[in-house]
Amino acid sequence: MNLDPAGAALIEAARAARLHAHAPFSRFLVGAALLGADGRVFTGCNVENATYGLTVCAERVAVFKAVSEGCRCFARIAVVADTNEATPPCGACRQILWEFGGDLEVILANLTGGKAVYRMRDLLPYPFDARLLDG
Ligand code: THU
Repeated sequence: MNLDPAGAALIEAARAARLHAHAPFSRFLVGAALLGADGRVFTGCNVENATYGLTVCAERVAVFKAVSEGCRCFARIAVVADTNEATPPCGACRQILWEFGGDLEVILANLTGGKAVYRMRDLLPYPFDARLLDG
């Protein structure tokens, strides 16, 4: 599939971030690049821990970096991993992406040119979110 140049650039940013992954336990390197509504790009990689359970995925690292730098409104995210089929965000990351991104565009890519594009509403149908806290 063909992507617009900005989408292709976001994949490249995710690909570069993937090389920073700290994944000595799974050896599964993931990179993410999140485009803010203000045009800034926030990258992330997975950061594993010897306790395993404290591992944080690339997508969440990107979201938390963005929020900590004052950006809470997003347009799209690219995620890159070295798999035949594109790697989709895990359940925890979908919840976090929904919190700040709502119906974000999610671009998934591998290292050999494979790409797929989804919307968050399709990856996380019937989500729990802040609207429910108001009753
Ligand atoms: N991982 C991500 O960073 N993002 C995903 O979308 C899927 C999984 C990481 C977590 C862990 O470090 C490794 O990949 C294997 O699950």
